[in-house]
Amino acid sequence: MPHEVRAVVAHGKGEPVSVETIVVPDPGPGEAVVRVQACGVCHTDLHYREGGITDEFPFLLGHEAAGIVEAVGDGVTQVAPGDYVVLNWRAVCGQCRACAKGKPWYCFATHNAAQKMTLASGRELSPALGIGAFAEKTLVHAGQCTKVNPAARPQAAGLLGCGVMAGLGAAINTGGIGRGESIAVIGCGGVGDAAIAGAALAGASTIIAVDVDPTKLEWATGFGATHTVNAGETDPVAAIRELTGGHGADVVVDAVGRPETFTQAFYARDLAGTAVLVGVPTPEMTVQLPLIELFGRGGATKSSWYGDCLPARDFPALIELYLQGRLPLDRFVSEEIGLDAVEEAFHRMERGEVLRSVVVL
Ligand SMILES: NC(=O)c1ccc[n+]([C@@H]2O[C@H](COP(=O)([O-])OP(=O)(O)OC[C@H]3O[C@@H](n4cnc5c(N)ncnc54)[C@H](O)[C@@H]3O)[C@@H](O)[C@H]2O)c1
Ligand SMILES: [Zn+2]
Ligand SMILES: [Zn+2]
Repeated sequence: MPHEVRAVVAHGKGEPVSVETIVVPDPGPGEAVVRVQACGVCHTDLHYREGGITDEFPFLLGHEAAGIVEAVGDGVTQVAPGDYVVLNWRAVCGQCRACAKGKPWYCFATHNAAQKMTLASGRELSPALGIGAFAEKTLVHAGQCTKVNPAARPQAAGLLGCGVMAGLGAAINTGGIGRGESIAVIGCGGVGDAAIAGAALAGASTIIAVDVDPTKLEWATGFGATHTVNAGETDPVAAIRELTGGHGADVVVDAVGRPETFTQAFYARDLAGTAVLVGVPTPEMTVQLPLIELFGRGGATKSSWYGDCLPARDFPALIELYLQGRLPLDRFVSEEIGLDAVEEAFHRMERGEVLRSVVVL
């Protein structure tokens, strides 16, 4: 029997989202239906709503979630009804050219549910990042369900499903930040603060938080930033150089994703340092850099898709660190809201009032 549940749908570019009844089919082969317990509001949901990612409206938003597996389809062995899972958008295929090369975190053919969830009218929905978890239940590929320790509360655990993993992985996996090194993080929202928390876990000795909002800088200190720079008042490149012996940081993470912040990240690196772009730009954005600088500064400029994570490797381990008090996931949860408050949460995000609003179901 298909399930009729309440969910948050974006119908058109820039239009306020609405709560509607959607139809979730029974899981087919390889699929699972998950009863969502909590789902964080990520800036990427807003990018979808703004038409910045694709124009395949209507979108079923939400993709940073934890819940309980309710039913599985034929052939599913990795999870069973009753399992507590964090949803992921990297169910690796094991067969594409990235997987074949032994780099499955780049997997180019990740699995999503084959069936479509629909509006009551029958119109097919596009689930954000193949998840769509601002919903009482959602349909995913079973590989998108990563079992974690049920002692972790869903409001915190679900955040690993996107923003926290993306930021933390951008610093550790993509940037390769290590013990005793220096890092600067531009943009201290949920993603940037996770990069800061990751750098602290990895033993970085200088962790510079950069934002234009003093409150965000104060919060960043709580995640382990050793220095803060208000980019609205000071040139962040000069400030980062000054805080790193005049050289620049070993790793600079751009967790905003705009031409000016990426350019700052590029120039705020030490020679042979690494700039990591984890913030998501929009299609019309461009950057221009002198080619001699690209050559002469050496090092690397890298993009970080989902923090180069492997959910099955990283989620259970990070949940254990959380339960041991070494990864402050609760600190990201600014407020708990209902499904009907997602539109307001977007406005609060835009006004910079929250790190994460978390929908609790
Ligand atoms: N690459 C990935 O896999 C991935 C995953 C999740 C999110 N993201 C992206 O990461 C970005 C950040 O997401 P979020 O949820 O943390 O967003 P957010 O809106 O909570 O945070 C953005 C922060 O950047 C700050 N900021 C804005 N302009 C700035 C500037 N010029 N200089 C310094 N700081 C500035 C804001 O004050 C805010 O604190 C978004 O673009 C999102 O789409 C990427
Ligand atoms: Zn693959
Ligand atoms: Zn996200």
